[in-house]
Amino acid sequence: MSESIIGLKRSSMCADLSEADVGKKVTLMGWCHKCRDLGGLTFITLRDRTGEIQLVITPESSEEIRNKAASVRSEYVLAAVGDVQLRSAPNDKMKTGKIEIAVEDLRIISESETPPFYIEEDDTANEQLRLKYRYLDLRRPNMQRNLMLRHKIAKCARDYYDEQGFVEIETPMLGKSTPEGARDYLVPSRVKQGSFFALPQSPQLYKQLLMLAGYDRYIQIAKCFRDEDLRADRQPEFTQVDLEMSFVDCDDVMNVTEGFLVKVFKDVMNIDIETPIRRITWQEAMDRYGSDKPDLRFDIELKDISEIASKIDFMVFKGALEAGGSVRAVCIPGGAKFSRKEIDALGEVCKTYKAKGMAWLVPSDEPRGSFLKFLTPENIAEIKDAMGAASEDLICIIADKNKVVYDSLGALRIEAAKKLGLIDPKDFKLCWVTEFPMFEYSEEEGRYMAMHHPFTCPMDEDLDMLESDQGKVRSKAYDIVLNGCELGGGSIRIHDRALQMRIFKLLGFTEASAQEQFGFLLDAFKFGVPPHGGLAFGLDRMVMLMAGAASIREVIAFPKVQNSSDLMTEAPSPVADKQLEELAIAVATTASSNEDDDLNLVTD
Ligand code: AMO
Repeated sequence: MSESIIGLKRSSMCADLSEADVGKKVTLMGWCHKCRDLGGLTFITLRDRTGEIQLVITPESSEEIRNKAASVRSEYVLAAVGDVQLRSAPNDKMKTGKIEIAVEDLRIISESETPPFYIEEDDTANEQLRLKYRYLDLRRPNMQRNLMLRHKIAKCARDYYDEQGFVEIETPMLGKSTPEGARDYLVPSRVKQGSFFALPQSPQLYKQLLMLAGYDRYIQIAKCFRDEDLRADRQPEFTQVDLEMSFVDCDDVMNVTEGFLVKVFKDVMNIDIETPIRRITWQEAMDRYGSDKPDLRFDIELKDISEIASKIDFMVFKGALEAGGSVRAVCIPGGAKFSRKEIDALGEVCKTYKAKGMAWLVPSDEPRGSFLKFLTPENIAEIKDAMGAASEDLICIIADKNKVVYDSLGALRIEAAKKLGLIDPKDFKLCWVTEFPMFEYSEEEGRYMAMHHPFTCPMDEDLDMLESDQGKVRSKAYDIVLNGCELGGGSIRIHDRALQMRIFKLLGFTEASAQEQFGFLLDAFKFGVPPHGGLAFGLDRMVMLMAGAASIREVIAFPKVQNSSDLMTEAPSPVADKQLEELAIAVATTASSNEDDDLNLVTD
C-alpha cells in the first residue's frame, strides 16, 4: 500500500512539539521508528530529523485507521493527523515524552523492507554494513546530529569570514597537479588524449593567484583530493575551509583564525576558548611533546637526558649518542604499579615507531628496571632528579636517532595518558605550532623536501642559510592543533620570483622543470605580487573533534573505506570499453581488491 500526501500539509516537525502545543491539531510526517500493538491500542514512535514523538491509535479510532496501524512496520513512511495530548504515562527519556498525538488520520506513504540493522542511537551494527546501507545509517540520530553540527560549523565559517571581508570564490576541480606531498587523483582528457587533469590536493596555487589578481581576502569551503593511505583522520576526498589574505604577515593570519575559533566554539558548543592561543615553536613542541601536533590536555613531557646517559656504560645509550642521536625519557606518574606485561606493551608502542627497544626504570628505594646492571645509585638518583620523578613513577627511556626518539616518546606519552585516564574528552586544548623547518630530509628520496609546500616563505633571519645549511632554515609556517590533531595549517608565501626559483632549485628543480610544472605561477609572479599568506582548516577534522567522534567517517555523509572505495555505490568500478576507447586508455590488469572479503575495510 502506498498512499499519497495530497491534501495534507505538514504542520510541525516531531520533536519541535511540546506541552505548550497540547490541544492543537497537527500533521506530522516521518518514519516509523517502533510500533507496538497492545491489542486494539497501537503506539507508533514517529521519527523525523528533529527526533521522535509517540502516535497513539485507540480502539475508538476508525476501523480503517486501526487496520492500517496494525500493518505498520519499522521504517514505513507515515503521515499522521491528530491532536496533541498529554501522555498518561510520560517517558522522561524522550524529548517529547510528556505528550503524544491522538491519531485521527493515518496514511502509509511508503513501505519498507526490514532494515539490515536497527536504526538506533548506538552503532551496534558493524561499520561495513553501516556503510553499505549508508542511507539507513544516516537516519540514526547521532549521524543526523553530526551532519547538522557540520552544517553549523560550515555556516559559522561562511558568516565569520564574510564579516571579516573575505570573498568566497570557487576554484576548479579539473586542474594541474600541485605538489602537496600526496599522490594525485588523475582525470583523463578525452579531447587531449594521453593528457590528464589532476583533482586538486588543495586550491593552493589558485588562491595565491587570486591574491595576485587583487581579491585581497579569499575563502572557500573546498573539496580536496589526495590519494594517500587512510587513517581515522584522513579521507582521500575531504573538505577544507581554505583562506588567503594579502598584505599580511603570520600574526595577521593567526589573529583572524583565532577570531573564527572563538566564534565557532562559542556559537556551536557554547565554549569560551582562551586567546591568544598558546604558541609553541616546532622545536619546543618536538623537545617537550615529541610531536608537531602536541596534545596539551595532560602534563607528561619529554626530557633530554643525553648528558646523564653519556656517563652510563650502556652500549644502547652510547651507540645512539655517538651516531648523533639522543637519549630522552618520559616520566609516567604512578607508572610503577604497571605489570611487566603492561610495561612491555608500552615498549611495543615505541617499536611501531622504529625504536629498537625501550629502557625503563622505577626509581624507588629498591629500584627496578630493564638496565639496572648498568646503573650506579648515582646514575639512578641523577635520572630521577632530572625527570622530577617520584618513587612510584615509571621512567621510560628511548635512545636512538632524534626522529625515532621523538616519534616513539610522543606516542608513548599519549598511550600512557590514555591508560591512566588523564585525558578529559570534554577538554579542548588548542595551540599554534610555529617556525617549522623549511625542509625535511627524505631518506626515501635521498634529498630535502618542502616540509609544508614549496611556496612557503623562509624566515627572514634564516635566508642566509638557504644554501649553506638547508636543514636549519625555518619557515613562516604555522599549524593550529587541537587535542593532538592537526586541525589546520598555513604559511606566509613567497611573493618574490627570484626567491621562489631559489627554493625550487634547493628542492631539486631545474629552471626548465620548474617552468614546466609551475610556469603559470612563475609567469604570474612577473606581474606585481602582493605579500600574502593563508591557512586551511580540515573541516572534517574540526567536526570530528567537536562531535567527539572517533573517526572522520562519522562526520562525512558518504565516506570511503580503507582501500579508498565506497561500499555503497561500489565505486571505483570498471567502465565500459567504449568509455576507455574514447579516452584512448587500455587497462593493463584487471586485478581487483574490492571483492576481497578478508580485507578489513574500516581499520584505521
Ligand atoms: P595541509 O596539507 O596542511 O595544507 O592541509 C590543511 C588541513 O587539511 C586537513 N587535511 C585532511 N583532512 C582529511 N583527510 C586528509 N587526507 C587531509 N589532509 C589534510 C588537515 C590539514 O591541517 N594548501 C595548504 C594550506 C595552506 O598553506 O594555506 C594545505 O592544504 O586538517
